[in-house]
Amino acid sequence: MSLVVIVDSDAGFCRRLRVLLENDTGARCDEVRSLAEAREALGLRHPDTIVLGPTIAPAAALEFAESYGTQDGAASIVYVTNETSTDLLRRAMRAGLRDVVPADQEYGEVVRAVQAALDSVRPRSAEGVAVQAPVSRGRVVTVFSTKGGVGKTVISCNVAVALAELGLKTVLVDLDLQFGDVGIMLDLTPDRTIFDAVQSFDRLDAEMLSGFLTPHASGLQVLLAPVHPEDAEVVTVSRISAVLGLLREVADFVVIDTAAALDDAVLAAIDSSDTVYAVATMDVASIKNVRVSLQKLAQMGYDHDLTKLVINRADSKVWLDPGEAERSIDAPVVAELPSDRLVPRSVNRGVPVVLDAPKSGVARALAALAKTVAAGREEAKSSVA
Ligand SMILES: Nc1ncnc2c1ncn2[C@@H]1O[C@H](COP(=O)(O)OP(=O)(O)O)[C@@H](O)[C@H]1O
Ligand SMILES: [Mg+2]
Repeated sequence: MSLVVIVDSDAGFCRRLRVLLENDTGARCDEVRSLAEAREALGLRHPDTIVLGPTIAPAAALEFAESYGTQDGAASIVYVTNETSTDLLRRAMRAGLRDVVPADQEYGEVVRAVQAALDSVRPRSAEGVAVQAPVSRGRVVTVFSTKGGVGKTVISCNVAVALAELGLKTVLVDLDLQFGDVGIMLDLTPDRTIFDAVQSFDRLDAEMLSGFLTPHASGLQVLLAPVHPEDAEVVTVSRISAVLGLLREVADFVVIDTAAALDDAVLAAIDSSDTVYAVATMDVASIKNVRVSLQKLAQMGYDHDLTKLVINRADSKVWLDPGEAERSIDAPVVAELPSDRLVPRSVNRGVPVVLDAPKSGVARALAALAKTVAAGREEAKSSVA
């Protein structure tokens, strides 16, 4: 999905334009209040188009376009201003601005200019990553289901631990912000959490963020969920995106566990993800739930190929076989995990089953899923090479 960053000190302008752009172009919009803030955000997010609003002076807009707009893979810049002299237009084109448009009443021209800019941006690969993205960046995967109790946390913890055991630098993020239980499943004490990380948001960089991670014996690093459900509020979408952007710079893999919801936090995770693993169990309600939520994601403009299916407790043949689930949901099944009482036992012990009973069928299936996740990175590398 495309990302537009709107830069203007006038919150009203940003809000009105944001609503129009989100409705008319289907892009997601972020607002920042100044060029300084924009520069900061650009290190963390990679927008397709940047809109500079009328409160930005022409000289500052041109200077920004010259310094930022000429970088490799930079977003195209649309400047909304009431000072549309031919002189400014000429200088704007030379500075690399894509378009200069007047702030008319309805912002019709602005929307058209942004749409044209979006239509012409660099091609995106099937998994939604910019094709020119540096290969050294880590991969982000989200474990997703809008239904609770299907095994999201079991799967994300075990896959993350298995990736770490493969020697890959892995960070697990508990984005079940209100009721996250990664800490319990991995027996970690929440001395530092994502709440503390975003409290220091203004100064946060990759190094500082690593100080908020909790190490697990396997080598995995974990960004735990807030201890108090009410603290989830300060963990806003733009902060989540920024945190994930920083983590992807330092890790080979970022695995995200999510709440049973399709809320802003989950969408922020999906936005940042190279692959989304949707978890279904073998019952009609769960299959229908996954089908509906994937349809919803498609409506929102997410790439169909972004999602893979993981069937948990695949051997409890209540309704149908995995092949039928695959056809019904229209996404490929990449793992079928058996039901095993070793899983609740490992949850109670606070030791993931891939470590607690590595020879068991369920642990092997989870380790195989981790290898599939790891292979995604190799594929991405070789497709760019
Ligand atoms: N493959 C499995 N076999 C047996 N029990 C499982 C399996 N996967 C998950 N469970 C059990 O289901 C419960 C819910 O799993 P959890 O990962 O917390 O779900 P979610 O995060 O989707 O809400 C856990 O307590 C776990 O013991
Ligand atoms: Mg959970």
